Amino acid sequence: MSAQMQSYIDEAEKVWLHTYNRYQVVFDRGEGVYLYDTDGKRYLDFVSGIAVFALGYNNREYNDALKAQIDKIIHTSNYYYNVPAIEAAKKLQKISGMDRVFFTNSGAEAIEGAIKTARKYAYLKDGRTDHEIIAMNHSFHGRTMGALSVTGNPHYREAFEPMIGNIRFAELNDFESVVSQVNDKTCAILFETVQGEGGIYPATEEFMKKVRALCDERDILLILDEIQCGMGRTGEMFAWQRYGVKPDVMAAAKALGCGVPVGAFLMTEKVGKNSLVAGDHGTTYGGNPLAAAAICKVIELFEKQGVLENVREVGAYLEKRLDELAAEFSCVETRRGAGLMQGLVFDRPVGDIITEAMERGLVLINAGTNIIRFLPSLVITKENVDDMITILRESVLKVCG
Ligand SMILES: Cc1ncc(COP(=O)(O)O)c(C=O)c1O
Repeated sequence: MSAQMQSYIDEAEKVWLHTYNRYQVVFDRGEGVYLYDTDGKRYLDFVSGIAVFALGYNNREYNDALKAQIDKIIHTSNYYYNVPAIEAAKKLQKISGMDRVFFTNSGAEAIEGAIKTARKYAYLKDGRTDHEIIAMNHSFHGRTMGALSVTGNPHYREAFEPMIGNIRFAELNDFESVVSQVNDKTCAILFETVQGEGGIYPATEEFMKKVRALCDERDILLILDEIQCGMGRTGEMFAWQRYGVKPDVMAAAKALGCGVPVGAFLMTEKVGKNSLVAGDHGTTYGGNPLAAAAICKVIELFEKQGVLENVREVGAYLEKRLDELAAEFSCVETRRGAGLMQGLVFDRPVGDIITEAMERGLVLINAGTNIIRFLPSLVITKENVDDMITILRESVLKVCG
């Protein structure tokens, strides 16, 4: 590392609150599937800002759309209408089949909105204020207090207790564990269609269908968190579309804006008509013209660039190459995931492997201690996968022998 890069890092550590143990690199620019650090070193990126830069870095059409919007207007207020936000909502409606959209600034905020929606929906039915939400162990929904309260990892919650309360936890893919938590106070069942941080666990079709039926039977809202697994990552626009099971409320973010901080929670017309009304919820920035212009362009480019087709094809190839690696090394226990959201499970902590890969010019990230997560841009090629496997293989050899 150059003295210049080291001095950037030293300066950062003097002024930033230390809430992340960061890799020792300062990224300066991106081009397609590559990142460049301030020393000019190139890295193949299999993280894409944690499932954000779906279209790759420095996409000309996306950049131009943002620049044009900046020159027109960046922000007004949610007390007025703006055309990009109307267009963005219509496009989101079309790709999701949901009816009503509320734009937020982040994923955690979309989860907050979904929680409020469920509580209000139940409140309007029976006037009670003690409704419960069932979330899943090993889930991750964000760091704000509501989102943290439904995050099934006590390590993240402990120091910040008390949580919002009335949250129960069950096991993803264990329907009986969900049933055992349901009672007449339950207003929502919430989970990620594919758990991300928790270790890349896709919900099974059987679990999805049984939970949907249970929700229908008891008028409980099914809330799906598609913040990491949505926006094409599994080969469908939203991961739940693979199962033929539709949620009542859904949260999206990350690749929805491809780098501009946005999120959204969406709901069916029935929920929209029977939950939040004027004065119940708001945000200064949510759905401002700049953010909305980003969403519009992202959805347009997904179609134009055949992103879903690419995810299906290259995702299947990535699975095959990771399976080969798992077969070759005894320190790799298994692979799991869907499309371009994959996890390689090791019998040991993966920190050293990730650091080795970084030195060789490959950016990877963990999920938990023992899992390497693969969340590349959705426009990667099979050649990019081959290059990634070559570097990963060398790194695993070095660490596991
Ligand atoms: C599944 C899931 N939900 C919610 C969030 C929170 O999103 P944000 O970091 O934008 O608040 C994340 C972020 O990693 C996530 O992966």
